[in-house]
Amino acid sequence: MPVDLTVPLSWKGASGDADAMLDDLQSNILKPCVREHLHILLLGFTDSPEGAAEARAFLNALASKVKPVRTHLREVDTFKSGGVGGTPYVGVGLTHAGYGKLGLSAQAPADPSFRRGMRDAQTQQDLSDPAVPEWEEPYREEIHAVVLVGDASATAATAEYQLVKALLPPSVRLIGEETGLGMRNADGDGIEHFGYVDGRSQPLFLTEDVDDERRSTDGTSVWNPATALDRVLVADPPASGEVIGSYFVLRKLEQNVRVFRQAEEELANELKLVGSDRDRAGAMVVGRFRDGTPVTLQSAAGPHSPVMNNFDYASDDQAVKCPFQGHIRKTNPRGSGGFEPPENEREHLMARRGQTYGERKDDPAGRDVPLNYRPTGGVGLLFMAFNSDLGNQFEFTQQRWANGSGFPRVPTGTPEPGLDLVIGQGSRPAAVWPLNWGEQGTGPGLGTPAFPQAVTMKGGEYFFMPLLSFLRSL
Ligand code: HEM
Repeated sequence: MPVDLTVPLSWKGASGDADAMLDDLQSNILKPCVREHLHILLLGFTDSPEGAAEARAFLNALASKVKPVRTHLREVDTFKSGGVGGTPYVGVGLTHAGYGKLGLSAQAPADPSFRRGMRDAQTQQDLSDPAVPEWEEPYREEIHAVVLVGDASATAATAEYQLVKALLPPSVRLIGEETGLGMRNADGDGIEHFGYVDGRSQPLFLTEDVDDERRSTDGTSVWNPATALDRVLVADPPASGEVIGSYFVLRKLEQNVRVFRQAEEELANELKLVGSDRDRAGAMVVGRFRDGTPVTLQSAAGPHSPVMNNFDYASDDQAVKCPFQGHIRKTNPRGSGGFEPPENEREHLMARRGQTYGERKDDPAGRDVPLNYRPTGGVGLLFMAFNSDLGNQFEFTQQRWANGSGFPRVPTGTPEPGLDLVIGQGSRPAAVWPLNWGEQGTGPGLGTPAFPQAVTMKGGEYFFMPLLSFLRSL
């Protein structure tokens, strides 16, 4: 029986093909794996029959290291019931060019964005990305495969990474590498380099995770993260239920922390915010306070644990709490975008699996660190996400929502929202902000200087993460 991709999956109750899939699908797709310490290897294959054979043998050997999702889910259960931590995560993906070098073009998945790749001139133009010659070195080249190696412990991640590297045959070239390093705030929540809790709001594909969300957080009555498998898993032929894997987006996004932090202060000055209310400036840019509290729910941070996610923008349709241009309102309007029915709007959401990179001497979450201690480069986010349809998920979100100055639809007479203040790429107009939380008509109008772009795309690529049985067949 083919897998029913129109609903989330109960992994404990799975039967037939769905049950078999749990031993064949790479982990990290349906549920994030811990990857506090992460190594990313970008690989290039050699253009010869011998090179193709060696690359295939390498991928085949790597299959024994790739953890199927069932093993990961069992490890999580064991850990939760007081047992030991899990084994390292190893994930493998191929680019469209990579399939070609293996002599497997005919088996390459069909998504048009995947086939074009991120370096394609049209893709670059559509996403308003910097020109490819401005990207960091490894991403300017044609990449054929990616291998991710992660673990909660640096020692385990490094040991596994060395084992993976030892499998590389001479004809498979290490084009480049990235090192991810997780950061946490005092509450133990994962944060990104601007100091905000990240990774909280995710589509959930397993009914067990949805149940956990309902029981152990603020609930699912307003925003239900339950998501059908077809938002992350690819079937071939389409709609057949014959799962073949998932598309994987990798983008290196450098963060200029000094510029962002300074702009937060200037915005607070401009809006004449005083005392702890000054934190609302950054909260309006992101849509959440640093501790993760959604600004549409509360005028101030806290309670932080568990971080709230059971909300939508119904009580804030005039954007007097969270501005339309706030990052999380632009990238998930939760049914309020105004251009599509809510159920269609949800189809653009993706499974984010990003990891921060770069080490800091200053405290990323600290508030009183002088601006000149804040990094201007060398740190950022290795944005990663699993998709079933790149054009309708990642690309749609970046191009139409984040970079789209007219999204979301605003009430008549209100100026356009402008770009996403965190990731928008393009020219940024001056913006309208609520002066006092929740008070209508208190925005200072269009005089406020545009919030600067502090995130720069340094390169990336689209990959496909196939089934283990595919890797073993090589
Ligand atoms: C949520 C930061 C890049 C899409 C968030 C949150 C933060 C954040 C702090 C709130 C935590 C949460 O709800 O999980 C950043 C930073 C980025 C970045 C600093 C770049 C350096 C991106 C990109 C995309 C994206 C490239 C997609 C194109 C989203 C989505 C959410 C989110 C969909 C969840 C919104 C929701 O469901 O409420 N991001 N992000 N982010 N981000 Fe980003």
